[in-house]
Amino acid sequence: MLHIDILTVVPELLEGPFSHSILKRAQDKGLLTVKTHNLRQWAINKHMQVDDYAFGGGAGMVLMCEPLANAIESLQETGAYDEIIYLTPDGKTFQQSMANRLSMLNRLLLICGHYKGIDERIRTQYVTLEISIGDYVLSGGEIAAAVITDSIGRLIPGVLNDETSALFDSFQDNLLAPPVYTRPADFRGMQVPEILLQGDPKKVAEWRFEQSIQRTRERRPDLLEGE
Ligand code: ADE
Repeated sequence: MLHIDILTVVPELLEGPFSHSILKRAQDKGLLTVKTHNLRQWAINKHMQVDDYAFGGGAGMVLMCEPLANAIESLQETGAYDEIIYLTPDGKTFQQSMANRLSMLNRLLLICGHYKGIDERIRTQYVTLEISIGDYVLSGGEIAAAVITDSIGRLIPGVLNDETSALFDSFQDNLLAPPVYTRPADFRGMQVPEILLQGDPKKVAEWRFEQSIQRTRERRPDLLEGE
């Protein structure tokens, strides 16, 4: 059972991603709960202010310490977090191995930055893990939080129908997944590889493994070098 709290100034951005398909099923089964919290609940004044200009000048606003600290502390009162995660392009690059680890925890808090980011003192005082989903800049951390929640949520035992199926995902063993086919066996003259039609599970497994290696060698040789 994993509970994820997400702190954001744009909760609307997170209304869709968890309400369908696998993440919805995870929640319906009681294996995952996801709750978004609007940082403006902890605004410092009646103007709902949560951000201010950066000291030293420059364009862009910074999310302020006070609302963030109050929000984190009040959420902590509902239970301690295993990790307090800040989504930021200068964080550690998210990978399947990190998803695997996080999927085994019980309570996570994801903090979404916006504008120029959050005050550095919140990062040093409260945040335990900083994650980037890749070397590009998003307009805020929300979509990154959705990516992380999705990839973690599907790994919680019992979420996928066939519990073993995550074991064969791309990256799970540093290999890309093999090609897959479904009916018809002949589509406009393009045939499904014969071995998949013959029904010998051992041969199918061998073929898939070889395809994985070949695909990884062609597309992501860096994954093989990392061994
Ligand atoms: N916020 C802005 N860009 C981001 C990225 N690449 N990863 C995580 N959070 C972000």
